[in-house]
Amino acid sequence: MAIFVPYLTFLMNNKSIYILGIESSCDDTSAAVLCNGKVLSNVVANQEIHTTYGGVVPELASRAHQQNIIPVVQQAIQKANIDKNQLNAIAFTQGPGLMGSLLVGTSFAKSFAMGLNIPLIAVNHMQAHILAHFIDEESQQKPPFPFLCLTISGGHTQIVKISNYFDFEVLGETLDDAVGEAFDKSAKILGLPYPGGPLIDKYAKLGNLKAYEFSKPKVGKLEFSFSGLKTGILRFIDKNIAKNPNFIKENLYDICASIQHTIVQILMNKLKNASKETRIKHIAIAGGVSANSEIRQLLKDAEKKYGWSTYIPKFEYTTDNAAMIGITGYLAFKEKRFSKIDVVSKARMKVDQ
Ligand code: KG4
Ligand code: ZN
Repeated sequence: MAIFVPYLTFLMNNKSIYILGIESSCDDTSAAVLCNGKVLSNVVANQEIHTTYGGVVPELASRAHQQNIIPVVQQAIQKANIDKNQLNAIAFTQGPGLMGSLLVGTSFAKSFAMGLNIPLIAVNHMQAHILAHFIDEESQQKPPFPFLCLTISGGHTQIVKISNYFDFEVLGETLDDAVGEAFDKSAKILGLPYPGGPLIDKYAKLGNLKAYEFSKPKVGKLEFSFSGLKTGILRFIDKNIAKNPNFIKENLYDICASIQHTIVQILMNKLKNASKETRIKHIAIAGGVSANSEIRQLLKDAEKKYGWSTYIPKFEYTTDNAAMIGITGYLAFKEKRFSKIDVVSKARMKVDQ
């Protein structure tokens, strides 16, 4: 088939592999160019519009992706200092995510791949968060197989065992809300703008993490639940505001520190259980919430405390970005995992799919 001609040419010439990654699963439009697993550019356009609504509005997200996609891709290619004809494949997020948002990236990737006559690679967003650990970066150590990864984002909370690049097994996940939602909903209760996770992290640094106590969920050893915590925080705030209308304002830092500490303790306890059960001591984190400074610190501390080797992604590869799609595309390219042109976006996708 004509589409595989560039791949064969690559094999014959053994030249560098250039991959364009495209991410559009939620509210960030992103494009990245990688050469042999090294990031040459990683452009992210955030959509400010959702702040006004306290959460992502799917229809607005889709429209913003349509406006952003061409300039973002153009910028990524320009920053990488390559010509589009040097690209060997285009990797894009197939799912999971918002259907309207996914469709923009998928349609663009298909057209561009067809136009350039190069292979198309559909990428699972959840796998990409984990495989971001394999980006070729001096400051980033690559985990050996098998390793455990705690994937924590706005839509997911799971502990995954990774036995090879495309061999994933979910050991445990959330029964209700994702941990990112727990951060964002707690922030909303405190009157903070969306997304509240980074703000809670910022204010928590100035507060006392033991100021208040919130009860932890009683679920299975490797399962998570955050909906009860959210209700607990809501009741706690209502009760205190009834006594002092300025309660939040006067105690914001302590409240943030205590909420964050409770969440991070829950995550660390589950990781300890997973490591004990599997006897795996190579532990990674991935996803937007892995940007959190307390979890990053506690993981570092766990190296001495529990003899773990920990793998923490570079800050810019934690929240949604196209470099992680590009590295997954690169690994898939090497295994010739190409997609057909009629591949479709999927709002729901499991990490092992
Ligand atoms: O992976 P991501 O960018 O998007 C999804 O695929 O969901 O994750 C976004 C989530 C949001 O809930 C955001 O509040 C949270 O990651 N987040 C944080 C921090 N930075 C981002 N949560 C806690 N602390 C942070 N520093
Ligand atoms: Zn994500």
